[in-house]
Amino acid sequence: KQNIKLGLLGFGTVGTGVVRIISAHQEDLQKQTGLGIEITKILVQNAEKSRHISSVDSLVTTDANEILQDPEIEVIVEVIGGIHPAKEYILEALERGKHVVTANKDLMALHGAEILNKAQEKGCDVFYEASVAGGIPILRALVEGFSSDRITKMMGIVNGTTNYILTKMSQEGAEYADVLKEAQALGYAEANPTSDVEGFDAARKMAILATLGFRVPMKLEDVDVKGISEVSKEDIAYGKQLGYEVKLLGLARRDEEAIEVSVQPTLVPKSHPLASVNGVFNAVYVHGEAVGETMFYGPGAGELPTATAVVSDLVTVVKNRKLGVNGRGMVAPYKEKVLKDNSQ
Ligand code: NDP
Ligand code: HSE
Repeated sequence: KQNIKLGLLGFGTVGTGVVRIISAHQEDLQKQTGLGIEITKILVQNAEKSRHISSVDSLVTTDANEILQDPEIEVIVEVIGGIHPAKEYILEALERGKHVVTANKDLMALHGAEILNKAQEKGCDVFYEASVAGGIPILRALVEGFSSDRITKMMGIVNGTTNYILTKMSQEGAEYADVLKEAQALGYAEANPTSDVEGFDAARKMAILATLGFRVPMKLEDVDVKGISEVSKEDIAYGKQLGYEVKLLGLARRDEEAIEVSVQPTLVPKSHPLASVNGVFNAVYVHGEAVGETMFYGPGAGELPTATAVVSDLVTVVKNRKLGVNGRGMVAPYKEKVLKDNSQ
C-alpha cells in the first residue's frame, strides 16, 4: 500500500497545523516511513465555518461515523479537545483497530489508563506527545531518553497561555484580561481558558509528566493547584523590584516516602534560567539520579509547534506499522502498571 489513510478529528488551531505540516512535509515524511500520509476525512462541529485551507474543503464532515466506521482509515488524530465526545471517539476507534494520536491532556490525565488499556487489548498505538509542552518532545525524552535512569524531580513552566500573560504583565505592564484575549486570539488558550488561568491545564500536564517520569500512576486529584487569576500587576511589579519574576511553576518530586506534585505562581529569582522563559515558551527541568540536571525549552503552544509533535507521533505510528510492532509504542512499558494501580 502506498498511502496510510488518516481521519482527522478537529480542524481548529492544532488540526489546521496538522494539515499544513502533512502537506508541506509530505515528501520527507514519505522518505522516512516509506508510505504517504493521506488525510481522508476531517471532522468538525460547524460545517458552515470558513476554514483557512480551502484545498481540503471536500474532506470536511460533521459525521464522526464517516471516519470511525471507515475500515480503510487506519489512524485517527484527535484534536477536538475536552473529555466528551473525544473519549468516546478514541475508544471506538481503538475498538475498531485504529491507532490514535492525540493532543488531549485533559483526557490523558483523567482517562489515560482506560485508553491505554483498550489500545493494548487491541494491539493499537496511542501517542500523545503534544499533550505536554507543545513542541518540546518531553514525553519521549522521559520514556525513552531517561529509561536507564531514575527521575527524582521535574520542574518548570508547562502552560504557554499563563506564561504569555505573566510576561506581558511584567514587561509591558499590560492588563491581565487584555493579554488573555490576545492569547486566545493566537490560539494558545484552551476552549475554556479557566483551565489555563486557574492552573488546571498545567496540573494535568504535571500529572502526565509524573506518571511517565516516575513510572507510577499519578492521580489528578493529588496535584495541588493554584493559578494566576489572583496575581496582580502590582504583585509582579513588586516582585521585580526585589529581583524576582512571577512564573506559574509546576513541580513534581519524589523521595523514598512520597511523590508530591503541585502547580503554583512562584517568585523566581531573575538569575534563574526559568525567569527568562518568556511568552508562549515552556521549559522543563528534569533531574535524574544518574544524569543530574537537564533542561528542555521550546514553544509550549500554538499551531505549528503543537502540530509538529502530533505529526511526529503519526510518523512513529506509521513506522511501527511497517515494522509490525504497533501496540508496543512509547507508553507500553507503563500501561500495565498504570492500570493495575488505578484499579485498586
Ligand atoms: P480548537 O478549539 O481550535 O479546535 C477544536 C476543533 O474541534 C474545531 O475544529 C471544532 O470544530 C472541533 N470540535 C469541537 N467540538 C467538537 C465536536 N463535539 N464534534 C466534532 N468536532 C468538534 O482547539 P485546539 O486546536 O486549540 O486544541 C485541540 C486539542 O489540542 C485540545 O485537546 C488542546 O488542549 C490541545 N492542545 C492545543 C494546543 C494549542 O496551542 N492550541 C497546544 C497543545 C495541545 P469547529 O471548527 O467546527 O468549531
Ligand atoms: N492552553 C495550553 C497552553 C495549550 O497555553 O499551554 C498547550 O497545551
